[in-house]
Amino acid sequence: MLLSDDAIGRAAEALVSGLLVAFPTETVYGLGADVFNVAALERIFAVKRRPRFDPLIIHIADMDALEGIADISSLEPVSREKLAALSRCLWPGPLTLILPKRPAVPDLATAGLATVAVRFPDHPVAQKLIRLSTGAIAAPSANPFGYLSPTRAEHVQEQLGAQVDIILDGGRTGIGVESTVLDLSTGLPRILRPGGTSRERIEAIIGPVDNSEQGGILEAPHSPGQLKSHYAPRSPLTLHCPGDMIALPYRASEGYLFFDGKSRDAWYTAQEPRDARWIRTLSETGSMAEAATNLFDQLHELDKSGCSIIRVEQAPEDGLGSAINDRLSRAATMY
Ligand code: TXA
Ligand code: MG
Repeated sequence: MLLSDDAIGRAAEALVSGLLVAFPTETVYGLGADVFNVAALERIFAVKRRPRFDPLIIHIADMDALEGIADISSLEPVSREKLAALSRCLWPGPLTLILPKRPAVPDLATAGLATVAVRFPDHPVAQKLIRLSTGAIAAPSANPFGYLSPTRAEHVQEQLGAQVDIILDGGRTGIGVESTVLDLSTGLPRILRPGGTSRERIEAIIGPVDNSEQGGILEAPHSPGQLKSHYAPRSPLTLHCPGDMIALPYRASEGYLFFDGKSRDAWYTAQEPRDARWIRTLSETGSMAEAATNLFDQLHELDKSGCSIIRVEQAPEDGLGSAINDRLSRAATMY
């Protein structure tokens, strides 16, 4: 969808005056506020019902803005080199970096931590909005805390509606899962949340990263996206190993989400579902990128369909598969 420069300009003015603007990024829609406006930040937490211990990502659209947010000089030289390499190769893109924070960033944005999360989104609307405002927008995903992330403006409208001052409709988001969160503030870089940039891509640029927390469900999370119940639909969701789906008996009241066309077809042959209603496939050909794009979209659809339970097939673990499985396992643990 084409948004006029005027519409983005008006949204930027609204941000500067302290209002909340939902906007598209290449991953999911964000709920934005000027990072330096504490009253606007307060509203983000209220609208999302987000606990204050969960810090926000600051979105920038040029490298100068990074200096105003993060204290790069206090990084170890080796971490500074890794930051330079990652920002050169992967920004703009679905990668959030945890860096030492500048005092100018309000504590509310970072939940009182000494670090700040920074991301340079790869989306023309997001970039224009950021550049026309104060240059740094705090934005969590534009969904109520713990619920499915929005990949369309309609999802934001349905979930947060009138509580958001402006929703910029940029169509469906391309990547479909949130950015990868990588902590560069300590010695060995550590993945805190798997996401739109695979570990393999990061390691090809900076060498080994600590991956022990990715996908882990922690008692005391380093990053609240690690909370075990997160990204959940309202309907119960159960997760099934790829080989197990075929044995699931068809029940007309249930929803089914297959990873690819091959396993869906095998299940059709085995179970012969009659008047099948709620059967979806993440990617007909098994493309991981397409599966990620469709993930939240199809979960939203099944969640609204009224099915009694959503049965989902896990993705293979490589590349973006670990981000897909991370979101699915957190969506499933509530039940
Ligand atoms: O793709 C994305 O990252 C989307 C779009 C809108 O940019 N944003 C997003 O924001 O997913 P949110 O708030 O839903 O997730 C931010 C994650 C949370 O898991 C939060 O705990 C973590 O980043 N985070 C933020 N600041 C942090 C910090 N200083 N240290 C560790 N984790 C941090
Ligand atoms: Mg979120």
